[in-house]
Amino acid sequence: MPNKKCLVFFFFLFFLVIIGVIVICLIAKDGIKHKETESPFWQRTIVYQVYPRSFCDHDGDGTGDLQGILSKADYLKELGVGTVWLSPIFSSPMADFGYDVANFTAIEPLFGTMDDFDALRAALHDRGLRLVLDFVPNHSSDEHEWFVKSRRKEEPYADYYIWADPKGFDEEGQPIPPNNWLSVFRGPAWTWAEERQQFYFHQFLAKQPDLNYRNERVRDEMKQVLRFWLDRGVDGFRVDAVKFLFEVEDISQDESVANDPETDDPLDYYYLNHTLTTNQPETLEVVNEWRDILDQYSDRVMMAEVYDDDIRQVMKYYGNDSVPLADFPFNFLLIDSFRNRSDLSGAALKDALDLWMDNMPEGKWPNWVLGNHDNGRVGSRFGEDLIDALNMLVLLLPGTPVTYYGEEIGMLNTFISWEDTQDPQACNHGLDGYEDYSRDPERTPMQWDNSTLAGFTTGNSTWLPVNDNFKDLNVKAQQHAEKSHLKIYEELARLREEETFTKGHTAYPVISNEVFSLLRYLEGYESYLLVMNTSEEELEVDLHQHANMELPPTAEVVLRSVTDTAEATVPGSEIHLSEVKLAAGEGLLLTFSE
Ligand code: NOJ
Repeated sequence: MPNKKCLVFFFFLFFLVIIGVIVICLIAKDGIKHKETESPFWQRTIVYQVYPRSFCDHDGDGTGDLQGILSKADYLKELGVGTVWLSPIFSSPMADFGYDVANFTAIEPLFGTMDDFDALRAALHDRGLRLVLDFVPNHSSDEHEWFVKSRRKEEPYADYYIWADPKGFDEEGQPIPPNNWLSVFRGPAWTWAEERQQFYFHQFLAKQPDLNYRNERVRDEMKQVLRFWLDRGVDGFRVDAVKFLFEVEDISQDESVANDPETDDPLDYYYLNHTLTTNQPETLEVVNEWRDILDQYSDRVMMAEVYDDDIRQVMKYYGNDSVPLADFPFNFLLIDSFRNRSDLSGAALKDALDLWMDNMPEGKWPNWVLGNHDNGRVGSRFGEDLIDALNMLVLLLPGTPVTYYGEEIGMLNTFISWEDTQDPQACNHGLDGYEDYSRDPERTPMQWDNSTLAGFTTGNSTWLPVNDNFKDLNVKAQQHAEKSHLKIYEELARLREEETFTKGHTAYPVISNEVFSLLRYLEGYESYLLVMNTSEEELEVDLHQHANMELPPTAEVVLRSVTDTAEATVPGSEIHLSEVKLAAGEGLLLTFSE
């Protein structure tokens, strides 16, 4: 009898083990399937750009720092952005505010210490946020020890930079640069180094000498820099000024004159065509080497900064299956296509979107950039009335939106007097020209609250003046207001996680001079229709009359710009699509079931 009991027991045990194995296999299979199908993090998040000098100052010296950023980690989480990109935080004499790096693997003391960096990374990761750093490969600071040694011709650094003999000497015995190449920041791209009796090349400031990528050692050094930060847990890089990496080898050639009617200043960068100094084919080889490194780590992103009038040049930085490059080059078309409000129309907006999508290589991922530290604030470029509509657009389109700090509250450009001007690009254009070139107006301190200096610093001064509008325009006020840019932004960040946006289709039912519309839809889910008035006048539009597809008779209001005060469009209201009223510049987000 005990034997029979034993047998039953063992049978039962055997049965349990088999069931267990089956369950484990199923879970594992599902897990693997899940991993295979899950998209990379940068396709699922908003990228939020922090300009470290201007985000939050913890130590009270008037310039933002890493501990300041850390103190806002909860804010960033709450905002709904998933990836934080920091403009350069590396040791720098700050001639170009961090884009002149003196040590690529050290933290600038103004911003804090490596411990502060580790704490920030941990704080972001603990909250499920990713951290992306700026990688500035084209140049270093002239105070980098590589340059100091190169100028002395000390090996192995002698050829770390681009050195050239003078073309000759002028009547006063001054050396003449080897060619006519110009710096982006105005004036010759060659500076004479007494010590070495040669010129060195710089695409930007004389304090930013260009590294020589024809030297394998330089390539290796910069790859080491990438590994250093990847090993320290960063989730990827925004690659600065990448199209400038190489110049033609034969430097005896001049660049041709652009004959641009807008530029008659022979020292202005746009006076010349830059066929010999940008987008050289070797650049893509180097970017591919960096890609290889990132791919040795899991789930890392590479975003490339490439401004170019020729969209085909920009698209090259996506690479292809055999030569993968960046995950995406930034899409600056929403900046470059519209310099003034008058350039904007529903049709022009649609053209700008199409220009990217039609040129993007097959299988690649789009992105949408409204502003950054090199371009005026959205509300100042387009008009304040368009702030919410444009955030709605970039957050609801398929692709990765990139938000510049402060855009979530609609910060505006700040007037900066000549005396207060800091940006070297502005300084190089002098009192009469500085305003056209200055990037200071979009770099002013983040406006956190209405206390002195907008809650940006505990000190009593700031590196750039705080905008006078901070008393009303600040995070705290917008958190407490019944409606605000911030609340709209947060709601959009939540909405874009819905299946309709993550998996849905896209259509543009009504496009006209004054109206832009975007439809996101997915079978079995709510559809969302964004209707935007791009004009400066109030408007009533019959969507049915102009739509290129069938639309339902009515829809429910989900969100509307803060400028809309009409009774009929209070969120939650049902409206007829044949009579949609829109305030000037308004974005109205509607929903309906199929
Ligand atoms: C592009 C950066 O965005 C800009 O701020 C900087 O001045 C140049 N690169 C030079 O590094």
